[in-house]
Amino acid sequence: DPEDQLQPRPPVITFLGHVDHGKTSLLDRLIGINVVSGESGGITQHIRAYQIEKDGAGISFVDTPGHEAFTEMRARGANVTDIAVLVVAADDGVMPQTEEAISHAKAADVPIVVALNKIDIPGIDPMKAMADLSANGLQPSEWGGDIEVVKTSAITGEGMDDLLETLLTVADLNEYRANPNRNALGTSLESQQESGHGVVAKVIVQNGTLRVGDVVVCGDAYGRVRAMFDTLNPELAIEEAGPSTPVNLLGFNTAPAAGEHFYVLDDIAKARELAESREDQARRDSLGSTGPVHVTLENLFDRLGHSEEVQTLNLILRADVRGSIEAIQKELTKLDHPEVKLKSLLSTVGGVTEGDVQLAAASDAVILAFNVVPDEKARSLADKLGVQIRRYDVIYKITDDLKLALEGMLK
Ligand code: GTP
Ligand code: NA
Ligand code: MG
Repeated sequence: DPEDQLQPRPPVITFLGHVDHGKTSLLDRLIGINVVSGESGGITQHIRAYQIEKDGAGISFVDTPGHEAFTEMRARGANVTDIAVLVVAADDGVMPQTEEAISHAKAADVPIVVALNKIDIPGIDPMKAMADLSANGLQPSEWGGDIEVVKTSAITGEGMDDLLETLLTVADLNEYRANPNRNALGTSLESQQESGHGVVAKVIVQNGTLRVGDVVVCGDAYGRVRAMFDTLNPELAIEEAGPSTPVNLLGFNTAPAAGEHFYVLDDIAKARELAESREDQARRDSLGSTGPVHVTLENLFDRLGHSEEVQTLNLILRADVRGSIEAIQKELTKLDHPEVKLKSLLSTVGGVTEGDVQLAAASDAVILAFNVVPDEKARSLADKLGVQIRRYDVIYKITDDLKLALEGMLK
C-alpha cells in the first residue's frame, strides 16, 4: 500500500511581502547567513530556496522578491509552500505587494503567519499595522482572530525564536507527508545558463527522491541529472534529494520555464519525445492558434474535468465602486455548486491593471471587470498571457454567465 510509505517531510515555508519589509533580512537571521549585503541595490531579484536542519529535522525556506515587477516569482513561491510568512514592516503597514502576497497565499490555501517586522524602530506603533492586517481579513490572534502575528526585528534579533517556534507549531499541526520511495516530482523555481556549467535549474522536490542519473522532464526541457548541488553551499554536491529539498540541478538540455512541474521517467527517449511535444505546443500557443492557455468561463467545464473532488475557480474582481464589489460578492455567495468552489483572490475598486493580469496568469484566474476598463497595457498583457478579462455592466449577467460556465453551457 503506497499510503504506508508516506513519511514526515520538512515543511516548506515561504517569505512573502512588500519590497524592503525585511523578508531576506529575517531569513538571513533565521539561518545565520548574510544574503542581503550581497544583493544589488538591496533588492531581491531571485527566488531563493534553502533547507536547514533544526534539532535533527529539516525545514525548507523560500525567499521571494517584494518588488512589484516580481508577481510571478511570488506566485511560484506561494505555489510550492506549506506555510506563508507574510512580512509586514511595522512602520509601513500593509502595502500593495502585501495585499498581493495575501492573495497568493489565499490562492495556495496555506496558513499565514505574520512577521510584524522592524519593531526596533523607535516610536513605532504596531497597532496601526495590526489594524491594516485586520482590515485585510487577517485578524491577529491577540485580537481574538486566528492569525499569529509575531513581532520581529531582523536587526536586533527580537522575536526570531518566537517566529521559528510559531512556524514549527503550525508545521507540526499539519503533519506534512510524502513518499520518499517513489520517483521524484516537483517544481522548477528558476534557471539560468551558466558559463562552463550549461543550464543550472533551481528546483524543489515535492515528492519522491531525486537522484543523480535520473531522467527528468520539465515542460519542454528534459535531460539526465548530471549533478546536484546544495543551495546554501553551492559547492556541496549531493547524490539524492528527498521531499521538500531544493537543489541546483545540472543536466537539462535547455532552461525549463520557472514554475513548471518536473517528473522522473524511466527512459530518456520518452522524456525527449514528451519535451519536444511540449515545445511544439508552446510554439503553437505563441502563434495564438490554439487559443487561451489559462482558464476562461468557456473552457472552465472541460478544465475542471468532471471530477468528484471539489475544485476551485479563482476570480479577480475589479469594479467602479465599493458598493458594486459588495453587491457582486453577495451574488457570488449564492452560486453554491457541489463540485466547484469560487474563490475571489482580489476584489478592488479601479480599472484592471497589469498586476491583476500577472496575478491571474500566475494563479489561473478569470478577471471580472465591472463598469471598469482594462488599461491598454493590461489588455495587451492579457492577450499575450491568455488571461480572460470579462467586462460587465449588469450584475446579474455575471452570475448568469458563471452558472452557465459551471454547467459547461457558456458558448
Ligand atoms: P526585497 O527582497 O527587495 O523585497 O526586500 P526584503 O523584504 O527582502 O527586505 P530586506 O531584507 O532587503 O531589507 C530591506 C531594508 O530594511 C534593509 O536595509 C534592512 O537592513 C532593513 N531591515 C530589515 N529588517 C529590519 C528590521 O527588523 N529593523 C530595521 N530597522 N530595519 C530592517
Ligand atoms: Na530589499
Ligand atoms: Mg529580499
